Amino acid sequence: MTTKKRVGVLISGRGSNLQALIDANQAPDYPAELMVVISNVPGARGLDRATEAGIQTCVIDHKNFASREDFEAELETALNEAGVELLCNAGFMRLLTEGFVRHWLNRHINIHPSLLPAFKGLHTHRRVLETGAKITGCTVHFVRAAMDDGPIVAQAAVTVRPHDTEDSLAARVLEAEHKLYAHALKLVAAGTVRVEGEHVVGMAPEAGQTALFSPPLPDTL
Ligand code: GAR
Repeated sequence: MTTKKRVGVLISGRGSNLQALIDANQAPDYPAELMVVISNVPGARGLDRATEAGIQTCVIDHKNFASREDFEAELETALNEAGVELLCNAGFMRLLTEGFVRHWLNRHINIHPSLLPAFKGLHTHRRVLETGAKITGCTVHFVRAAMDDGPIVAQAAVTVRPHDTEDSLAARVLEAEHKLYAHALKLVAAGTVRVEGEHVVGMAPEAGQTALFSPPLPDTL
């Protein structure tokens, strides 16, 4: 059996995506092992999830540091101590400096609740509803210095329903996020995919499924 990649997870809050990764890690053949969960927010719910799963936790409150670089130096120390090889942002709401991003280049992934490059940033679902978009979704991508930017590992599409509210849409996208993140981390940790020229390659094109239509296509046009 190949050795599992040692993974660190960065969180800022609820940690439901972290929970999806914890659950995926229960499978004996999952190619990643969660070594440490680090939160920049004291008391984040995700810290309890990690503790319940027996994973080491660490709080590094960015408010206690004079600069982003000082905060990140502390982050690096914690990641080194845990022997982390691969980093996952799971609802980590802090921009990282170019130096940090460069150090973890192509070893650092993030999940965002939209079909990137559309709807980067905050209040994604509200903005999707405002535009009248019919399909949205979620994306796992390698991290680059710009917010919610970088080579796309995997995406899931979610249909917007006529009476969706921000909350109902967020809940359906979140369900897709949980499946997508576990799947994407598996691809990255196993080395199935890699970055070439700022695109992620390695998946056979025929692995893609049929297009998603919203409204659905009738049987005959
Ligand atoms: C998730 O929806 C995640 O995609 C989003 O924050 C939420 C965290 O929820 N991340 C971003 O918007 C990053 N730009 P969780 O703490 O329950 O995983």
